[in-house]
Amino acid sequence: MLLTPEMTGIASPDPLKNAFKIKNAAHAGRQGSMPISVDHQMWHHWWNMPSSAQRRALYIHIPFCRKRCSFCNFFENGAQPQRVSRYVNALCEQLDRASNTALVQSRPFDTVYVGGGTPTDMSADDLYQLGQMIRKFPTVDGAEITLEGRLNGFDDGKWNSALESGFNRFSFGVQSFNTQVRQAAGRLDERELLLERLHGLSLHETASIVVDLMFGLPGQTDTIWQQDLADVIASGVHGVDLYQLINLPGSRLEQAEGKGKPIQGFAAGHRADSQQRAEMYRYGANTLEQANWQRLSSCHWRRDTRERSVYNSLAKSGIEILPFGSGAGGNIHGYGMMNKRDLSSWYDAQANENNSLSTLPVRVPAMFMSPNPDAALDAAFKRGLDAGELPFDSLTVAMVEHLIPLFEAWQQHGLAKLSKRALLLTMAGRYWNVNLQTGLFLYLQENVMQNLSEAS
Ligand SMILES: C[S@@+](CC[C@H](N)C(=O)[O-])C[C@H]1O[C@@H](n2cnc3c(N)ncnc32)[C@H](O)[C@@H]1O
Ligand code: SF4
Repeated sequence: MLLTPEMTGIASPDPLKNAFKIKNAAHAGRQGSMPISVDHQMWHHWWNMPSSAQRRALYIHIPFCRKRCSFCNFFENGAQPQRVSRYVNALCEQLDRASNTALVQSRPFDTVYVGGGTPTDMSADDLYQLGQMIRKFPTVDGAEITLEGRLNGFDDGKWNSALESGFNRFSFGVQSFNTQVRQAAGRLDERELLLERLHGLSLHETASIVVDLMFGLPGQTDTIWQQDLADVIASGVHGVDLYQLINLPGSRLEQAEGKGKPIQGFAAGHRADSQQRAEMYRYGANTLEQANWQRLSSCHWRRDTRERSVYNSLAKSGIEILPFGSGAGGNIHGYGMMNKRDLSSWYDAQANENNSLSTLPVRVPAMFMSPNPDAALDAAFKRGLDAGELPFDSLTVAMVEHLIPLFEAWQQHGLAKLSKRALLLTMAGRYWNVNLQTGLFLYLQENVMQNLSEAS
């Protein structure tokens, strides 16, 4: 078997800090499918065919933000109110068309995620309109319906409108509570305002309030991170994600560093390196767990069982995700689909289609991929490694045997523990879980199984 450090990490007395040099990507994946073209006939066939998925989700993308944050490359379009309303109207028309199809009506959706960008930049009326449109889609009892965004500008009018129209989970990017770190990253509100607002929203009887925190931001020292953890625990929220800052291509931070430009002001003072970030992760995980927060994945914890993180965990399980809106990605009948980000061509496609008699959703500019023959297997790996436990009954005996040399290397390097029934990641393994996923896919590519039919 070929084993390389990229697959196994390296031996170190402190694997959390040193098993790999750097987190190599936000997500791992392997090329299991090919780009294909989808003509009108096939598109129509998809919408007229009932779904055969066991579980499924609806993903709706709102590609607007009022301001570009230094660390992020998700910014797509500026959020002028009229621009956003025009988009929401067009989006709702597409959702309306879809809601009457056999594909949509054939099975209930487990979860709906309205993500971005910054969906909370929609007006209260837009939010209400979108929420009402989502109600036309069949959903399971108690389905999780998430609105993503930020606290800035999310006033009581929007909050009430979102609740009334059916949203029951709210995911806010906070990143850091520290006002100076926030300002350096291009964030708008001050710490006290965020804490007060989160406290108020979290008092709701049923809605789940979760926040994203990042570690490794410019200016964010260990002391500031420790305060961020204390703040999130005190805020009353029901769940938290801890994300390590990744140098995303195209972000202002990455561009400044790529050009060798010094970072100005307060932010210039401190930049945690990969090893310090590992320590920040350890501190965050230990602090939450000592406060009795339950770990749901390598980066997500909850304080209250109302927080279920259904979309995030199902999305990693390779389920059917119907994507709507410019920049949305998902898959229909096993075919991957990524709507292109260019807003004007998204509108053009709809203007052209208006001349036709079809009542199906418009096929907007998109990249389509053939079904991945290894989709179920890849999902089992991703779900397991992300959750920190890969149960062997989700794999064939032959596949487990094939992977044992890699698992033993991870065990030797302090990244995992092997038992008869599962591979359990250590804290270090959970921190490096995206590298482990990448390593596993590389291992399978370099060490092809003799009998492929035994793989899945
Ligand atoms: C698509 S963004 C939407 C969040 C929302 N618009 C906001 O401003 O808070 C979702 C999350 O991705 C995370 N994120 C963005 N850039 C990141 C980066 N460079 N590294 C790690 N996480 C990042 C942030 O925690 C952010 O809350
Ligand atoms: S963090 Fe949110 S508001 Fe900032 S650029 Fe990214 S998506 Fe937009």
